[in-house]
Amino acid sequence: MSEYIVLSEGLGKKEKYESLIPQIIALVEGEKDLIANTANILAALKEAFAFFWIGIYFVKNENNKEELVLGPFQGPPACVRIAKGKGVCGTSWLTKAAIIVSDVNLFPGHIACSPLSKSEIVIPVIKNNVVFAVIDIDSSEIAGFDSIDEIYLTKLAELISMMV
Ligand code: SME
Repeated sequence: MSEYIVLSEGLGKKEKYESLIPQIIALVEGEKDLIANTANILAALKEAFAFFWIGIYFVKNENNKEELVLGPFQGPPACVRIAKGKGVCGTSWLTKAAIIVSDVNLFPGHIACSPLSKSEIVIPVIKNNVVFAVIDIDSSEIAGFDSIDEIYLTKLAELISMMV
């Protein structure tokens, strides 16, 4: 395991992900703890891309009610519980699909944890066809995410799904 992330100056977004992902794999290698690993993966992404907010919500079943519950994150404090089908996160959980929201004001039912968040991407983490978590990233810019983010964050979601 190496905790040291190195990224060359001036890399484009795709190249940054290409350089980062093997380092993230090395970062979690040999460690089985899901919370520690997701915390480190999100921290590495935040360091690399300076996202406004990045976190993971886990599907939890408490008192026979399933909800997304906030897990490790980087950035300002955020809402803790999200119901299935609610907001961008709950919609990604329901549909089992990644969602890119270029302008959060245009997404009906968007849950605003911070007024500074302008765009968002949510990637479901799926194991055996069941969503057990979603990765949520917010940008303080409009249209902060595109298909390049979706492709590489989906690879990281697959890496996380292999840990459970
Ligand atoms: N905006 C999300 C809620 C989580 S925060 O952005 C951290 C949503 O609509 O599901």
